[in-house]
Amino acid sequence: MSEATAQPGAGYPSSECAALILAAGKSTRMRSRLPKPLHPLCGIPLTRHVIRACRHAGISRVIVVVGHEAEAVRAGLGDDVEYALQAEQRGSGDAVQACYSLLKDYRGLTLVLAGDVPLLRPETLTALIQRQMQTRAAATLLTAFLDDATGYGRIVRGADGSVEKIVEHRDATPEERAIKEWNPSIYCFPAQDLFAALKEVRSDNIQGEFYLTDVIGILRQCGGRIEALPMEDSSEALGVNTRVELANAASILRQRILNRLMLSGVTITDPATTYVDVDVQVGQDTTLEPQTFLHGSTVIGEGCSIGPFTRICDSRVGDNTTIVSSQVVRSQIGNGVRIGPFANIRPGCQLADHVKIGDFVELKNATLAQRVSASHLSYIGDAEVGEETNIGAGVVTCNYDGIQKHRTIIGKGAFIGTHTTLIAPVTVGDGAFIAAGSPINQDVPADSLAIAREKMSVKPDWAKRWREKKERFHAGR
Ligand code: UD1
Ligand code: MG
Repeated sequence: MSEATAQPGAGYPSSECAALILAAGKSTRMRSRLPKPLHPLCGIPLTRHVIRACRHAGISRVIVVVGHEAEAVRAGLGDDVEYALQAEQRGSGDAVQACYSLLKDYRGLTLVLAGDVPLLRPETLTALIQRQMQTRAAATLLTAFLDDATGYGRIVRGADGSVEKIVEHRDATPEERAIKEWNPSIYCFPAQDLFAALKEVRSDNIQGEFYLTDVIGILRQCGGRIEALPMEDSSEALGVNTRVELANAASILRQRILNRLMLSGVTITDPATTYVDVDVQVGQDTTLEPQTFLHGSTVIGEGCSIGPFTRICDSRVGDNTTIVSSQVVRSQIGNGVRIGPFANIRPGCQLADHVKIGDFVELKNATLAQRVSASHLSYIGDAEVGEETNIGAGVVTCNYDGIQKHRTIIGKGAFIGTHTTLIAPVTVGDGAFIAAGSPINQDVPADSLAIAREKMSVKPDWAKRWREKKERFHAGR
């Protein structure tokens, strides 16, 4: 037996804590080509929620153990954490062992948890670490209770109530299976005690795996004390193993996000049909109407009205803006803007204050200055429009010649008549006036009128003669 296990918990000079997040498993039950740690949950990958809880608990060193689809998981989770590779999935104990080379000289605490428990709150982790620091036990673990804890490891306590070991469900006796206290798999150990005990773990169990849970019994047998901290809210320990559990976790997280927003001064008319990702920010006195979806890095200002039936992704919206039944993607929207119903604001748009975009208007990569109005049925793509210009119904920028995209530049205070086609590249000067129905394929100088259409002709009595011809035709049949 090593020195460290001889006196587990006896002392560690440092009060730092590193987190080990186990995410190397195959996650067969997800039945997915996408590795489980990367399944999106309220806008970020599943395991990012766990990383985030660690960070918010003040843990700066986070090591994620990857194995199955290791490269994809690393790329998807980002490079602000360290990674350890578990080449072969031989159990949770072996996964922790994979971190040894990174931590062999480390003398602080380690928090060990799985990468599929996205509902954990930072406060819960902080309480666990603090308990370990105060008691200097050989290990501190969270526990939870369920009338039927089938599938989970059970916490076996001795006659004096102290934790003796954890038995996995599959290895448990009928008496042990009746235990309601189960192991959520969230632990804090002095690092070197953990690694010393891991050396003693064997795989002589039903699954033939190296169980991390065996470390508890080993530390105890070496004279160490195991502290258990029952969780206040055991739904935090909910693991995601199937897509049913993923949806369940999403609905709990979503409710938390909405509650936070409501308590900060956002009105949510119908929380049951409002979907807001975890990083979205919404200002005070904004109202989110039913069927509103706010995704990614979206930021909404104060006093806005968003929805019903609106989807906004990775966009920034100013104050006092109204967006009804519309979609906005990767765009910047100013203050006092009105959008919708039924507008599609595609990536790369910038709408200055008091712009008005009405029904069936599509914008893409377009910059609209203050008070531009495009109220109906337009496509404005790869364009710049100066302030106070009016875009009539059915105006279309022809930005694509089948090979390349071209820009349309329109000055300020211009009037673009109904059904104008602007064949790019083309520039319309300040204050210019384009007559309705004009295809414009040359630049229009400032303050001039452009009219490009067939001269209208009228044929008197033509319609009357046509009707008479029609009547003769039918009479002759
Ligand atoms: C584990 C616990 C069990 C606990 C349950 C809570 C063990 C032996 N048992 O069981 O007591 O009640 O969690 O959810 O730990 N992993 C790896 N490499 C491996 C195997 C697993 O990284 O070789 C990772 C998995 O990706 C997962 C975590 O370790 O994140 C737990 O492994 P899993 O096989 O799901 O253990 P459970 O059977 O859920
Ligand atoms: Mg599991």
